[in-house]
Amino acid sequence: MGTDKEGAHSYADAYEWHFRHLRHRAITLLEIGVGGYRDSTSGGESLRMWREFFPRAQIIGIDIHPKEGLSEDRIAILQGDQSDEKFLDDVASRYGPFDVVIDDGSHICAHVIASFRALFPHLAEDGIYAIEDLQTSYWARGYGGSSGLDRAGTSMTFLQELVDGLNYAEFDIPNYVPAYTDTWIRSLTFYHNMAFVQKGANTEGSNVLQPHPRPATVLALASAPASTRSPASPPRRWFRRLVPKRLRGVMISTIRMVVRAAPKALGRNHGRDP
Ligand SMILES: C[S@@+](CC[C@H](N)C(=O)[O-])C[C@H]1O[C@@H](n2cnc3c(N)ncnc32)[C@H](O)[C@@H]1O
Repeated sequence: MGTDKEGAHSYADAYEWHFRHLRHRAITLLEIGVGGYRDSTSGGESLRMWREFFPRAQIIGIDIHPKEGLSEDRIAILQGDQSDEKFLDDVASRYGPFDVVIDDGSHICAHVIASFRALFPHLAEDGIYAIEDLQTSYWARGYGGSSGLDRAGTSMTFLQELVDGLNYAEFDIPNYVPAYTDTWIRSLTFYHNMAFVQKGANTEGSNVLQPHPRPATVLALASAPASTRSPASPPRRWFRRLVPKRLRGVMISTIRMVVRAAPKALGRNHGRDP
C-alpha cells in the first residue's frame, strides 16, 4: 500500500504477530498519523493496509492536517492534534472503545505520552496499544528525547515505568495506591523502535506481601527506607538498571578518588587558568 511501516522500518512481522488473533474480528482500530503531512490529498497508506488486513474492521485515522477527503469505505478520518486530550476524548466517545490504537503521529515524546494517557482508558479490556518510532526517545532536538542517563520524560522512560507497574503488587511502599495502568496492563513487548502494550487485568497479588495499601514497609532495610525508593529519582534508577553492579562500584570509587584528589590539584593550579 506504500506505507513506510515496512521498508524504511521493519514493523510488519511484529504487527502480524501481535494482531493475528484479531484479523477476522469486527474490531475498531484507531491510527494516529494518516501520512502525507501538509498535503491534504496525500496519505492514508497504512489505513488502507489495515482495512485489507482486517476485512471486518472499522478504521479511524486522525491527523493534525486536514485529511478528511481521504475517507473511504470503512475508513473515517478526522483532523486534530494528538496532544489535545479533549479532541481524543471526542474521537473516543464517537468511535470507541478501540480494540487497537497505533501511534504513528508526531513522535514527540510529550505527545506520545499525552496520547497514551488520554486513549489507554478508551482501549477495550483486551485491546492493544502500539507505538512506533521510539528512536525519538533518544533525540533531543525536535522530539524532547535524550540519550543521557538522565532521560526523564521520554517515551521510553514512560514505557519503562509501565514495565515496573507490572510488578506493582511487589512495591514495598507504604500506602501505595495502584495506578490505572498498574492494574490494567498485562504485558509490554519491545522491538527495535516500537512497543506493544497489551491491556488486560493485572490482578495477581504478591506471594509474599499483603495487597496494597500497607501501612508500613515490610522488606525494606532500615538503612534504605522505602521512602527513598519511592519515587526513586529516574537517573539513579536507570543508572542502577543499565550499569552492572561491579562496573558501578569501579565508577563510584574512581569518582571518589577524583573528588579526593581535586583539592590538591586545584591548590597547585591556584591563580592560573586550568
Ligand atoms: C509518519 S506519518 C504517518 C504515516 C502513516 N501512519 C503510514 O504508516 O503510512 C506521520 C503523520 O502524523 C501527522 N502528525 C504530526 N503531528 C501530529 C499531531 N500532533 N497530531 C496528529 N497527527 C500528527 C503528520 O501530519 C503525518 O501525516
